[in-house]
Amino acid sequence: MGRDAISLDKDKIKEGVKSAVVLVTGAAGSIGSEIVRQLISFKAKQVILLDQAESPLYDLQNEIIAANNNPSFEVVIASVTNKKKIRRVFEKYHPNIVFNAAAYKHVPLMEAFPGEALRVNIGGTKILADLSVEFGVEKFVFISTDKAVNPSNVMGASKRLSEMYIQSLAQNNGISTKFITTRFGNVLGSNGSVVPLFKKQIEAGGPVTVTHKEIERFFMTIPEACQLVLEAGFMGKGGEIFIFDMGDPIKIINLAEKMISLSGLVPNKDIEIKVTGLRPGEKLYEELMNGKEELQPTYNDKIMIGKFEEHNYLKINWAIIKLLNLVDELEDSELVAQLKAIVPEFVSKNSAHAVLDEVKERKDINGSRLYNTRKAILAMNGKRKKIASFLTI
Ligand SMILES: NC(=O)c1ccc[n+]([C@@H]2O[C@H](COP(=O)([O-])OP(=O)(O)OC[C@H]3O[C@@H](n4cnc5c(N)ncnc54)[C@H](O)[C@@H]3O)[C@@H](O)[C@H]2O)c1
Repeated sequence: MGRDAISLDKDKIKEGVKSAVVLVTGAAGSIGSEIVRQLISFKAKQVILLDQAESPLYDLQNEIIAANNNPSFEVVIASVTNKKKIRRVFEKYHPNIVFNAAAYKHVPLMEAFPGEALRVNIGGTKILADLSVEFGVEKFVFISTDKAVNPSNVMGASKRLSEMYIQSLAQNNGISTKFITTRFGNVLGSNGSVVPLFKKQIEAGGPVTVTHKEIERFFMTIPEACQLVLEAGFMGKGGEIFIFDMGDPIKIINLAEKMISLSGLVPNKDIEIKVTGLRPGEKLYEELMNGKEELQPTYNDKIMIGKFEEHNYLKINWAIIKLLNLVDELEDSELVAQLKAIVPEFVSKNSAHAVLDEVKERKDINGSRLYNTRKAILAMNGKRKKIASFLTI
């Protein structure tokens, strides 16, 4: 990756977790499972592994038992969107620390199913954050993504709104829970990501598919990202967005060439590299911060703190409640239009939802900040076929 690997202040974390019950949501996923592995290796008092995916959680359970002597953990199958069930988890275990890594993360799928992005990514985060306040959780660490910065897709915008909610809670006086956000770019080898895809494609004899010649991304390894999540979680005093130094972005086409060469083959001779076109919601370049944020250093030179504008809890809370109440009522495009009204920097790219941005521009000229969703729906009708085609990606 052309930079030093990241090292961790392990003593600080060991000290922090030895008397803590830690709830990890999305525990069976790429990020959640590595956070769990590290917490168990640091001998946390108890780790609660919560996920809705039964088989991956079962596999992780077996892995932990095989790899550790008397590990202290519990497994919970539950959806973070089920408030009653999650409340029972808080009543039973009384977590001191929550790491929220449960999410729907695949950009093209969330373009096609925006209601699910809202229900899980915003709704699940709100349920967990609100219960954390109610149950006096000490720290709540939200796992965000660079896709939340100037989002170009529903997934990124859903994470941005979650960040805004978490920050508004942190700025709300009288709440003892410290709310911390960690934001980073792509993780090498995570579920459904480019490295396992290229590996499979090379094994199958090609072609290796790249969506654009110029597309580039920031990369970290899973252990590096999760080390930084833990460290940021422990150094956080509440309200920060921690941004990780990911080094320089890497061109995906160069990654493809390197992986083909590392397999002992010659790119575009033994294995073809095929450019397939940008996917819905996909940007050429990701950013780690938006223009309004200025960075402050921390004692770890790989972790920086973004300084942010104020978020009004009452306004954001009300907007999210209204949005979530509409998830099963509105058409997808109406929902996306509502999301755009709450997250103004959300501008769809390479997506059928981009038509909603055209509507916004027209409304702005007339001096109104609201979307006319009916107009948007009419405009969307001609694009239905495109939305259906998302499903095949
Ligand atoms: N993978 C990356 O490259 C990367 C980079 C930066 C940020 N992130 C962020 O980290 C988070 C996790 O990503 P990941 O790569 O581990 O994804 P993943 O798909 O591997 O894991 C997500 C986990 O969440 C679980 N989940 C989904 N909906 C749930 C629900 N309703 N209730 C309970 N569990 C549910 C899934 O079953 C899965 O195990 C995402 O928010 C993602 O944006 C990921």
